Amino acid sequence: MPNINMLFPEAIYTEKLDLNEEYLNQHYNKQDWLTYRGTERVGVFTEISKNSQLLKEMPEIESAVLASLKKYTNDILKYKNDFKITTSWFTKTKKNQFSIMHNHANSMFSAVYYFGNNVDSEIKFERKSMNMWEIEPTEHNEFNCGTDTMQIENGKIIIFPSYLPHQVVEHKDDGIRKSLAINFIPIGTIGTGNGSMSIT
Ligand SMILES: [Fe+2]
Repeated sequence: MPNINMLFPEAIYTEKLDLNEEYLNQHYNKQDWLTYRGTERVGVFTEISKNSQLLKEMPEIESAVLASLKKYTNDILKYKNDFKITTSWFTKTKKNQFSIMHNHANSMFSAVYYFGNNVDSEIKFERKSMNMWEIEPTEHNEFNCGTDTMQIENGKIIIFPSYLPHQVVEHKDDGIRKSLAINFIPIGTIGTGNGSMSIT
């Protein structure tokens, strides 16, 4: 009997948090916005808040997000270190807008939390190593897919490794797709000997 062994699967964490929506909306509505990669294509790309330290102003939300990350890093990934938030910002995607495929540099894990409008929308992830041979499978499964999507849901957080390419797919819903995005790095002692470092 043959066996298939799962080697190096990606652990994508989701959890329903149902954070205070009114409080998030209050902060959301007073932001100034940037269009991704400049302003020359206004109306095409997802917009992001100019403020990328939002959770410093929302300590209750910060605590809830860090508690969620801790379950992922301690319970699932079995890491001892604690983590801290480096950046946090809002995104705004209107009808027909999208983001390019990208990852988050200078970060170990990233999270996205959806709130405000329960829109019909997805986040798409990409496996970089699938681009070498463009052969068509008879059906797509977890072993042969180059991209995969997850349906987004109000009140739900998705946490993933920051190196994983992802994008907001073209938004087809009339409601604005709102999210809070967060980057995390480990703190404390990392590594040993001449490869060690300490982050506070
Ligand atoms: Fe992103």
